[in-house]
Amino acid sequence: MDGDRPDRPRRARRSDRWFAADGMRAFAHRSRMQQVGWRREDFVDKPVIGILNTWSDLSTCHSHLRDRAASVKAAVQRAGGFAAELPALSLGEVLVKPTTMLYRNLLSMEAEELIRSHPLDGVVLMGGCDKTTPGLIMGAISAGLPFIYLPAGPTLNGSWRGETIGTGTHTRRYFDALRAGEISQEEWNDLETRMVRSVGTCNTMGTASTMSLLAEALGLSLPGAAATPAADSAHVRLAEATGARIVDMVEEDLRPSDLLTRASFENAIIALHAIGGSTNAVIHLTAMAGRAGVALELADFERHSGRVPLIANLMPTGRFLMEDLFLAGGSDGLLQRLAPLLDLTAQTVTGVTLGEALAPARIHNPDIIRPLTDPVAQAPALAVLHGSLAPDGCVIKPSAAHPDLLVHRGRAVVFETYADMAARIDDPDLDVDETSILVLKGAGPLGGPGMPEWGGLPIPRKLLARGVRDMVRISDARMSGTHFGACILHVAPESALGGPLALVRNGDEIELDTPARRLDLLVDAAELERRRQQWTPPPPKFQRGYGVMFSAHILSAPRGCDFDFLEGAAPTAEPDIY
Ligand code: FES
Repeated sequence: MDGDRPDRPRRARRSDRWFAADGMRAFAHRSRMQQVGWRREDFVDKPVIGILNTWSDLSTCHSHLRDRAASVKAAVQRAGGFAAELPALSLGEVLVKPTTMLYRNLLSMEAEELIRSHPLDGVVLMGGCDKTTPGLIMGAISAGLPFIYLPAGPTLNGSWRGETIGTGTHTRRYFDALRAGEISQEEWNDLETRMVRSVGTCNTMGTASTMSLLAEALGLSLPGAAATPAADSAHVRLAEATGARIVDMVEEDLRPSDLLTRASFENAIIALHAIGGSTNAVIHLTAMAGRAGVALELADFERHSGRVPLIANLMPTGRFLMEDLFLAGGSDGLLQRLAPLLDLTAQTVTGVTLGEALAPARIHNPDIIRPLTDPVAQAPALAVLHGSLAPDGCVIKPSAAHPDLLVHRGRAVVFETYADMAARIDDPDLDVDETSILVLKGAGPLGGPGMPEWGGLPIPRKLLARGVRDMVRISDARMSGTHFGACILHVAPESALGGPLALVRNGDEIELDTPARRLDLLVDAAELERRRQQWTPPPPKFQRGYGVMFSAHILSAPRGCDFDFLEGAAPTAEPDIY
């Protein structure tokens, strides 16, 4: 089958430079392809589609992606293209240490260079587990070829002893119950076998679900893709439709620069507020936008805070899970509900506008996809704070915090590192009560390193035993999107750079005023200056390897934690082919 449609003139393709040329190099390119049994006519004069697949045995959220890649390939072939699967860094969120965020930019570099260096005309990106979505998309934006994103899809609903349980959210909830003595070790062990029922990404509105949904809001995947469960037969059909569509995108020369504008990123920010999405998305969207030449700032996120109703009734803020959202009308139904707030003229991978792409969606359960006039929570899903403790800003998820803590003044209980916190948090002699504010340092982009998800600091065991389930916690870390609590995250400048967070000491008064968007350290300026003179930066974390490059080039959280040399939309050079 020929990829050219009868009504469409043959376009010069990028892959022609490898396969349709004369000379010894082109001969070698073609003969090496035929070494494995392909015929010349299988790949010459066809749109060549790369499938960047983040499958691995240790990325269990993505365990079905080999099967789905086969579905994509078959569909590409049927549509007249030639598909080639390329493995990419898998970044399984739970098993990769110290944090996958250390490697998001490495995946983005790998994706960009895989695309740039191979004979590809278009790309299908296969990811889903937290950092894989922004990592792949950042790289593909920079590479500039037509691409479409295929999310791995959420795992099925969890259930344990009659209760619906969500990945991450109930892990934290039951771990607190274990530490409080409310469940036994045997029950905890039993829960371990039931926590995640199938392949797929976390089924709460954690970072994976958030980023897949924002990719859809940006117009980078097919309508409904984000909520299609990994184990549902609809996911196979989604993979096939994605494979067929990328062939047409190549022929239409539909590139990321045609899709990604300030308006499309504003749409994604609005969607983030409406779904009560992960705070991690603030960092990832900023980095993705930076690659597209759109400069997002924290103010762009704050501008929609409280203005956009939280309409997705999903954990950790709400009651349901992604499989429920799928059955209630899907991610396209949810985005359609937001239509009055979105710029529907934004272009999408479908070849039509966002408004046209969402038009067929239907909503079947208004308790899960709420009307705009009946939000899940009155508190905003996301707020940006500034103040003397965070001059460059920080974020909080008010809808997932105890409302009484949103305005709070308390004494700091300071942990200099995560190891310090882990060693002392359950010490019966720790000088802490429910009015205290837990402060963690050394967890930012440079200090972590990689800004681990340590921001949801555990409640001290002695307070758990007294029924305390939320406290104000402050750090320069990130927090899992599946978690909840009055956690103030991404404090900038980070402590490893000598930001005010580095100067906080035990007993200092801190004041949080979320409605006023303030976070202040109530220590006088002279005393802070005295402490600043005594402060010394922590020693370098790395002596060799990727970590050295990471430490030298990582940007701050408000700038998306991209590398300074990757920011911006300047095109990379096409490779010479000799
Ligand atoms: Fe993979 Fe949550 S651990 S998506």
